[in-house]
Amino acid sequence: MSEFPRVSIASIGKYEGQTVRLSGWLYNLRRSGKIAFPILRDGTGFLQCVAVKAELPEELFESIRNLTQESSLTVVGTVRAESRAAGGYELDIQDATIHQRVPEEDPYPITPKDHGIDFLMDRRHLWLRSKRQFAIARIRHEVISAVRDYFDSRDFVLVDTPIFTPAACEGTSTLFEVDYFEDEKVYLTQSGQLYNEANAMALGKVYCFGPTFRAEKSKTRRHLTEFWMVEPEMAYATLEDVKVLAEGLVVSIVERVLDRRREELKILERDTAKLETVKSPFPRMSYDEAVKILQGKGSEITWGADFGNTDETLLTEEMDRPVLVDKYPTEIKAFYFQPDEQRPEVALGVDVIAPDGYGEIIGGGQRIHDLNLLLQRLEEHKLPRDAFEWYLDLRKFGSVPHGGFGMGIERTVSWMCGLDHLREAIAYPRMLYRTRP
Ligand code: 4AD
Ligand code: MG
Repeated sequence: MSEFPRVSIASIGKYEGQTVRLSGWLYNLRRSGKIAFPILRDGTGFLQCVAVKAELPEELFESIRNLTQESSLTVVGTVRAESRAAGGYELDIQDATIHQRVPEEDPYPITPKDHGIDFLMDRRHLWLRSKRQFAIARIRHEVISAVRDYFDSRDFVLVDTPIFTPAACEGTSTLFEVDYFEDEKVYLTQSGQLYNEANAMALGKVYCFGPTFRAEKSKTRRHLTEFWMVEPEMAYATLEDVKVLAEGLVVSIVERVLDRRREELKILERDTAKLETVKSPFPRMSYDEAVKILQGKGSEITWGADFGNTDETLLTEEMDRPVLVDKYPTEIKAFYFQPDEQRPEVALGVDVIAPDGYGEIIGGGQRIHDLNLLLQRLEEHKLPRDAFEWYLDLRKFGSVPHGGFGMGIERTVSWMCGLDHLREAIAYPRMLYRTRP
């Protein structure tokens, strides 16, 4: 067998007419007495193979014909163009080695029929092998690769920020406390932003990208307790700079996914027309305007309240691309937001809200650069000054206006894929009642 080149399903088109070796798992099998059509998957794609009884040794044909779902095998066969096949090719089997045959008595639990979500989530480690999860994982990978390219090509330096942190960034109500050594308490990070600010003062333009944690006790489609966030931060930057950077990022992600992940979007039956329209410029409005629009649409929202999921959905109802909403009430925002000079009751923050109910994918803005104002905010938010001394240093030694944002990877992936829940946008989701597998 080893004399034949080992190929992946994704690259099979390059080997038309040749005999190749392919290793994978049995995804599905149709068969009659004389012919069997095993569908193999190898992590790069799915390929229908053909085993004909008359052309194979009896024993080999029978072992293929009686294969069980998810058995592992290597096949040798000839690649043939087939216009009716999903990927355009089929493989005519000449030989096969079965590495592990899944026994009938204990079959692979996820069959092509419908299963309930809890059943699937309990078997997430296996569910990842299905076609739908394959497509989502590959789109997530593409989103992350687009994000990195976007910042790397703009001279941002990746600086990793810590996961164990001594203080809150996004409010004390969603902190996960961890027992550290010698009675010391630390928290799982909610955001790398505060460290990003220090790093930006050292390197100008930086980003961090890693897992972040929120003890969200709400069970919604849009909240995970552990999610991945990419956060850029820039020295000498204003709210406007943050908006431009955020819009550019979203546009480049959408372009990249449309360019390289068409097949996966098709598997997910994603309506790509809804992604094609995501181009610059995005509509922009203030929180004030958004509240008026929402009230006009029948929302009960009043000035000063944060948008709920339904408000975000309502606001973007007629939009074919995300909207940038800025200048939210200072009261409902985190302690670090720079207030508007003319109207200190609103903060120089911006949210990017995706259409079709996907909600806020980006939140960020300009940070307070004045030491005294920052001290006052820490007090108002009842945050312990000693844990923030180092952060205050940034306002003592060459303080400048600066800003950045955070983009949630799972929110973005959900939107790209058209998922109705964040739980499928990450391999092993962590939610209020879900910490396994
Ligand atoms: O708006 P958030 O809370 O902003 C921050 O954490 C800032 N410190 C970021 C910064 O300026 N550097 O979160 C940013 C994004 C949200 O827009 C959303 O996409 C995502 O993170 N996010 C969540 N995603 C999944 N589950 C949750 N519980 C999330 N909370 C926020
Ligand atoms: Mg936010």
